[in-house]
Amino acid sequence: MAIHFDQSNQLFHLCTPNTSYVLRLLRGAYLLHEYWGPRLREYRVVEREPSILTTGFSPSPFEDDKSITFDRLPQEYPGYGTSDYRHPAYQVELGNGATATELEYVSHRIYAGKPSLEGLPSTYVESDDEAQTLEIELQDSVAGLAVVLFYTVFRDHDAIARSAKLRNVGSDNMNVLRAASMSVDLGQAEFDLLQLPGSWARERNVERRKLATGSHIVESRRGASSHQQNPFVALLSPGADEETGDAYGFSLVYSGSFAACAEVDQFRSARVSIGLNPFDFKWRLEPGESFQTPEAVMVYSSAGLGGMSRVYHRLYRSRLCRGEYRDRTRPVLVNNWEGTYFDFDSGKIMAIAEEAGRLGIELFVLDDGWFGQRDDDSSSLGDWFVNRRKLPDGLDALANGVNGLELQFGLWFEPEMVSVDSELYREHPDWCLHVPGRRRTEGRNQLILDLSREEVCDYLIAIVSGVLSSAPISYVKWDMNRHMTEIGSAALPPERQRETAHRYMLGLYRVLETLTSRHSGVLFESCSGGGGRFDPGMLYYMPQTWTSDNSDAVSRLKIQYGTSVVYPISTMGAHVSAVPNHQVHRVTSLAMRGDVAMSGNFGYELDLTELGDAEKAEIKEQIARYKSLRGLVQFGDLYRLKSPFEGNETAWMVVSPDRTEAYVAYFRVLAEPHMPTGMLHLRGLDDASDYVVEGEGIVLGGDQLHRSGLPIPPGQGDFFSATWVLRVVR
Ligand code: DGJ
Repeated sequence: MAIHFDQSNQLFHLCTPNTSYVLRLLRGAYLLHEYWGPRLREYRVVEREPSILTTGFSPSPFEDDKSITFDRLPQEYPGYGTSDYRHPAYQVELGNGATATELEYVSHRIYAGKPSLEGLPSTYVESDDEAQTLEIELQDSVAGLAVVLFYTVFRDHDAIARSAKLRNVGSDNMNVLRAASMSVDLGQAEFDLLQLPGSWARERNVERRKLATGSHIVESRRGASSHQQNPFVALLSPGADEETGDAYGFSLVYSGSFAACAEVDQFRSARVSIGLNPFDFKWRLEPGESFQTPEAVMVYSSAGLGGMSRVYHRLYRSRLCRGEYRDRTRPVLVNNWEGTYFDFDSGKIMAIAEEAGRLGIELFVLDDGWFGQRDDDSSSLGDWFVNRRKLPDGLDALANGVNGLELQFGLWFEPEMVSVDSELYREHPDWCLHVPGRRRTEGRNQLILDLSREEVCDYLIAIVSGVLSSAPISYVKWDMNRHMTEIGSAALPPERQRETAHRYMLGLYRVLETLTSRHSGVLFESCSGGGGRFDPGMLYYMPQTWTSDNSDAVSRLKIQYGTSVVYPISTMGAHVSAVPNHQVHRVTSLAMRGDVAMSGNFGYELDLTELGDAEKAEIKEQIARYKSLRGLVQFGDLYRLKSPFEGNETAWMVVSPDRTEAYVAYFRVLAEPHMPTGMLHLRGLDDASDYVVEGEGIVLGGDQLHRSGLPIPPGQGDFFSATWVLRVVR
C-alpha cells in the first residue's frame, strides 16, 4: 500500500496490494485518470498522438492546442458546461443562475490512516498503518467552489474508498445540484455491465449485459436503496467469469436514493459514477458551508467476479461492519412472524420458545404486533409501549421467561414509521414527511416520520432506548416497510425542501449511531420488507440484514447468490420457513430449506409447536450441524460454483482463510431423467493439500478437487440438496 506523487511528471500513483490507480495533472491544473488495473511497478506517461478528427465536434477550451477538448479527456471529477458533454460528477447552480464550472488543481496532501465522514457511514481502519489517504483540492475561482477529493487505499484490501467534499468559498449562496461520490473514465468500453435489480421478495437478481453507447443508469428514487435496485454496479471484461477476467466494482455506502451511471461516449470510452441520486435533489450551500458526499468503494480484481466479491466480503465484514458482533458467530434464532403473524399472546410465545430451547435454538425474536393496539398492519406504529392484552406481564417478564429457557430475547421495531391510527400521530401530525395541501399517501397504512427533524430523531432515540433498557433484550430487528412519497418537511424553508430525503438519511444515521453505541451488547439486524435496504450504509450500524421476505428455498438460491456478489455471508439472515411457502406456495424438502438457510445467519421462522416428531428430529440435527460449521460459513471465503441464473443447479462453497476447512453446498431444483454424472469443481482449496471428504470416507487432493471435481450424488426427486465438509489431512 502506498500513494506516491511524482512531482516531475505530475502523477499520483495509488497502490493496493495487487492493484494500481493512477491520476495525472494536465497542464498542472486538470486532474485526469490514467490507469486502474493490476499493480504496476511504475507508471510512465506515454503521450498519445492526437488522431484525425480528434475533438469530435466538441469545442476546445485551450487557445494554444485546439486538439484538446474536455469531452475527450479521461477525467476524475468532471464538471459540465466547458466542453465535456458526458454525465458530470457534480453540478452547482451559482447565485447568478450559472451552472458552467471548471475545477483546477490547488494542492494535495497524503497521510497515514483514513478520516471518517462526518455523520455518514464509511469503511474505517483501526490503526493508521492500515491505510493511506490522498486528498486533492480543486477549485473553480469564478464559481467560488472548492472540491476536495478523498482517496483511501488499504494495506490489506484491494479496494479504494472515495468521496468528495464541496465547499462554498465564494460570497454568494450556491445550490449543489449533483455531487457524485466518484467518477472514473476508463478509456475503453468493451465491458459488460452487471447490476442487482429486483423487487420485493425477489431482491438482487444478477443481470448482465453488454455496455452500449449511451447511458445506463441504475438508480433508486424511492428514498431507500430499495429492493428494486442495489447501490452497486460492476463492469466486467467480455467473458469474465467467477475466476478469470477483469472485474471493476462500484459500491455506495448509502441507504437512500442513489444513482450509478455507466456512459459510453462517442470515443468509445466508458465513464462510471455512483453517488446520491441528483433527481429531485438540491442542497443549498451558504458561504463557508460544505457538503460531504457518501463514500464509494471501488474494487478491481483480475480474478473475475468471484475475486471482486471476496475483496468486498473481507473489507465489509472487517472494516465496515462494527460492534461486538462483528467478529462473533451469530446465534441460531427463531422468529415468530410467519408462525403467528399478529395473532399471539405470551402463552403462545412461551410455547414456541420452549420448543426452540429443546431443539438447540439460541435466540427467540418477537416480531411485529407486541405494542400499542396492533392486531394488524393498520395501526399503532409509533406507540412503542407494550400491548398488555397480548403480553399482560410486560416485556420484561416475557424476556426473562425466555431467558429462563436458555434463550436470548430479541424484539422487532419499525421506528421510522407512524400509523395514522396511533397516539403519536394524533399528537404530532406534522412529524411525518408531507407536502402542505397534498394527500399523505400511505404505504402499508403508514406514513414516514420526518427524520430530517432533530426533535423527531431525539424522540426516537429516547423511546427505543427506553424499551431496550426496560428488559433483557439482546437483539433488535429494525424494520422499514414503505418508500417515500410527498418528500417534504414542515421544518425546512422552501429553498431547502429538496434536501429533505438526504437530511432524512443523515437523521437516521444519527439515530442508529446513538442507539447502537449506547446498546453495544445488542445484535442489530436491519430489515426493510426483507432486503429493501440491504446496503453498506446499514451494515455500518447493523452487521446483518434480513435478506428477503421470500423464504422459499428455490427463490432464495437466486436471492442469496445475487446478494453475495457484494455482501458477505455473515451479513445475510436466512431462515427455514413452513411449507407450502407463504410467499410462493411451493413445497420443498426440509433438507433443502435447511441447506439453503445454513448458507447464511441461520434461523427458523415457523410455529415450532406444530411440527411432528420426525421434523423436530431433523431440525435438531440441522441446528447441531450448523453450530459446528457456523464459524466457517459466516467468516470464510465464498466461492460461487454454479449459478442459479444459468440453470437447474446451484452450488457454492466456503473456505476457511487458512484453507484447511471447507463447506460445500449443492442444490438441484428439479429432477431430470438421465442426468449425466456431474462433477463439482471446487475452488479456493490448497492444491498441495489433501482433504478428507467427511461422511464419504475419501481423501482427495486439493488439485484433484479443483480440476477433476467431487462427484455430485444422483439424488432423487425435486428440490435436492447435498452438502460436504472437507478438512485438510496433510
Ligand atoms: C416486514 C419484514 O420483512 C417481516 O420479516 C416482518 O418483520 C414484517 N415486516 C412485520 O410487519
